[in-house]
Amino acid sequence: MGATGAVGEEMLKILGERRFPVDRLVLLASARSAGRKVAFGGRQLAVEELGEDSFKGMDLVLASAGGLISKKFAPHAVKAGAVVVDNTSAYRMDPAVPLVVPEINPADIQKHRGIIANPNCSTIIMLVPIWPIHQKNRIRRVLVATYQAASGAGAKAMKELEDQSRDVLEGRPPRKEIFPHQIAFNLFSHNSAVKDDGYNEEEIKMIQETKKIFHDGKIRVVATTVRVPVFRAHSEAIYLELSEKPDLGLIRKILEGAPGVKVVDDRRKNYFPMPLEASGQDDVLVGRLRLDVSSPKGICLFVSGDQLRKGAALNAVQIAEILCHCGER
Ligand code: A2P
Repeated sequence: MGATGAVGEEMLKILGERRFPVDRLVLLASARSAGRKVAFGGRQLAVEELGEDSFKGMDLVLASAGGLISKKFAPHAVKAGAVVVDNTSAYRMDPAVPLVVPEINPADIQKHRGIIANPNCSTIIMLVPIWPIHQKNRIRRVLVATYQAASGAGAKAMKELEDQSRDVLEGRPPRKEIFPHQIAFNLFSHNSAVKDDGYNEEEIKMIQETKKIFHDGKIRVVATTVRVPVFRAHSEAIYLELSEKPDLGLIRKILEGAPGVKVVDDRRKNYFPMPLEASGQDDVLVGRLRLDVSSPKGICLFVSGDQLRKGAALNAVQIAEILCHCGER
């Protein structure tokens, strides 16, 4: 579901790359895309219009067409006997739905009743590197500021960044359709709805989803989420307050041995995680490892992770691999 979107296209790529055992693949999108041909596994497949009867004979549905579409169609897929791995926010906080990052809580997958939720992209990119630290030295509090790419708002938003950049450079007034503010040569507070307490929905997702995935209702999280003019990888400045005084050498070792993480931290060369280098990679890049000079139990990190891959499509395919016992990792 959502096969023609930015995440959908990445899912197809990843299913092919990881040789996911696909017998029959059905590409579902809106009526606008019906009939469009998409290449997969050396064949050209025609996109079909999503409908309530699209799921007959399906084992697995990877859903990435937006929350309202998932709310409407996931129950039909489950009724038809499929398991839905849902990349939208529709079911994430439903207590009956597991919310899974395979490097963190793979056992939760087995509790599913037809739907498994893929977490928010900023949440995944933050949690993959901090989970192994949490295992050794419990995190009491997380402070995070995000630098989020246009890809998180879909293919049309990426195009808007490209078009606006061209408009500005060529002296035309940039047109705004997807984002509320100019994204080219600018940045702004995340474009999700702002609640009465001043937090936007993206920040609330990071706070609530962390507690659910970690099975730790006590961990305190506060976030400031920002959209930046980057095409496809999210970055985050993360501050952690730990239970015990941290040993930075040990933290580095933990991160070097952690699944899904790559340490990029060369102080001499001033070389640290960058969204351009994270793009197209499976691993979340982590660096700028520092003790907090203002607090004895604090550490600081900077991460970049591909929003479309680990933040969305890859995480969903990894969940599907565990479901069908065919994973690479
Ligand atoms: P389409 O390309 O036909 O509009 P993105 O997150 O990159 O914007 O992609 C959204 C995905 O969800 C696309 O594949 C899009 O299909 C699909 N989609 C959007 N609205 C609908 C709808 N009403 N019914 C089915 N698919 C939809």
